[in-house]
Amino acid sequence: MDFVPENALVIMEGVTKNYDGVVALDNVDFTVSPGEAVCLVGENGSGKSTLIKILAGVEQATSGRITIGGKVYDTLSPRLSAAAGVMVIFQDFSLFPNLSVAENIAFSTQLGKNRRLFNKKHVYEIARKTLDRVGVDIDLGTIVETLPVAHKQLVAICRALASNARLIIMDEPTTALTEREVSILLDIIRRLKKDGVAVIFVSHKLAEVLEVSEKVVILRNGKKVAQGPASTFDAASLTRNMTGRDVAEASPRPIDPSAPVLLHVKDLHKEGAFENINFDLHEGEVLGVSGLLGSGRTPLAKALFGLVVPEKGMIKLGDKSIVLGDPLTAAAAGIGYVPEDRLTEGLFLTQSIVRNVSIGRLDNHQNAGLLNMKSLFRESGDWLKRLKVKTPDIGSPVTSLSGGNQQRVVLSRWLSRAPKVLILNGPSVGVDVGSKSEIHDIIHELALSGIGIIVISDDLPELLATCQRILVMKSGVITDEVSGKNITEDELARRMAS
Ligand SMILES: Nc1ncnc2c1ncn2[C@@H]1O[C@H](COP(=O)(O)OP(=O)(O)OP(=O)(O)O)[C@@H](O)[C@H]1O
Ligand SMILES: [Mg+2]
Repeated sequence: MDFVPENALVIMEGVTKNYDGVVALDNVDFTVSPGEAVCLVGENGSGKSTLIKILAGVEQATSGRITIGGKVYDTLSPRLSAAAGVMVIFQDFSLFPNLSVAENIAFSTQLGKNRRLFNKKHVYEIARKTLDRVGVDIDLGTIVETLPVAHKQLVAICRALASNARLIIMDEPTTALTEREVSILLDIIRRLKKDGVAVIFVSHKLAEVLEVSEKVVILRNGKKVAQGPASTFDAASLTRNMTGRDVAEASPRPIDPSAPVLLHVKDLHKEGAFENINFDLHEGEVLGVSGLLGSGRTPLAKALFGLVVPEKGMIKLGDKSIVLGDPLTAAAAGIGYVPEDRLTEGLFLTQSIVRNVSIGRLDNHQNAGLLNMKSLFRESGDWLKRLKVKTPDIGSPVTSLSGGNQQRVVLSRWLSRAPKVLILNGPSVGVDVGSKSEIHDIIHELALSGIGIIVISDDLPELLATCQRILVMKSGVITDEVSGKNITEDELARRMAS
């Protein structure tokens, strides 16, 4: 065991977790103290979520010892962990969608009081106090399901605080947030620390990791490979520790103006979402669409794939018009769409990994009505291998994969269909730095093979690394186009903000 600070709130010693055949965590020591923020970093599948699940009592360690607040636990259940002050903000936030903000925040404080009705005044008082503690203002009466993601997350944090959290754990809390919302969240983390609350968070965005945490713990293949004060790391050393190598980012190849137009979008209009959208996508081109959350970038992406129905306009693939608002014809014509939110939109969670790749393509592997499992596994397996999906068995449920690997499964599904146009909404959300540059390499390769690619993202370095041309959207309108020597981070940020 490493050095343990005297005031440590949580001490995990020699924690190992085996899932039949997979060593998800290998003899890991971990501590966190009051008022300290620890960031767990590591490549996809390195064991970050597993560590958190064990601490939360959701999964049982195969071996190891856990001490919380001076008490040693042989086994930890979610209830024991919560009673010890450990609160996890899960990715779906686990809120009650049909209850108000106040009721959600104060919910657990009202349990066990054997009241049939909530005391509304009391509930509002508790909720108000907790919101003040994090310094945000959300209307207490609003029904939670109508809130934007960022506010749902804040409500979940407040709920944890209201039930006396001593440690708040957040797994990839900023993936769905805009830059402004991220900075609000980071401020809240700072306030919590001042209050003596400990924080563990997992993030693939290295800049924010270094900004807000005292300590960084790096996992690789289930082992702790490095830890230390955040101030002793920079993005390059974090990356090197995570991957064991230096990761270089290629730059996009120059555009070929003579390449034929592949996708032609004319006067596309959807009330309240976007208007007057005109652009062409050339063969082999990677076109970026950037804009802040709410700029209309996601509805536009969905409309190109038929998931949102525009009232007016035209989309042509080659010389064929595509019926608007019909994903099946869009897919049949050769348009592919990788959604941003893999958990709710991209995956069939009850199905195996291989089925998730091959869904919609089963007819290619049929002979006289019988499914040829061998060819199905071969084709899907090839793509899974190419995208380095980390699993011992592609027949296992997709839920046994780590978050980043699930994202690659969605990507594999579309690539295995050989699309003509591929729309990638946040292609590397939740993907570690090493794999991110691999995904960028794949984007380059695909473009070289003649596919037209649209990358939708608010991750500026990602857009710069992949796109030859970037459209800037604001309030549903394309306000600018950046290309050539104007493609720099400063210039893009300036045009997005102006
Ligand atoms: N229920 C399960 N059954 C089998 N294997 C699992 C299960 N849950 C996780 N694993 C495996 O354990 C390893 C660690 O997964 P974990 O989810 O902890 O990774 P992670 O570091 O959170 O990655 P990511 O950044 O992609 O979210 C992976 O190889 C994963 O496939
Ligand atoms: Mg994870």
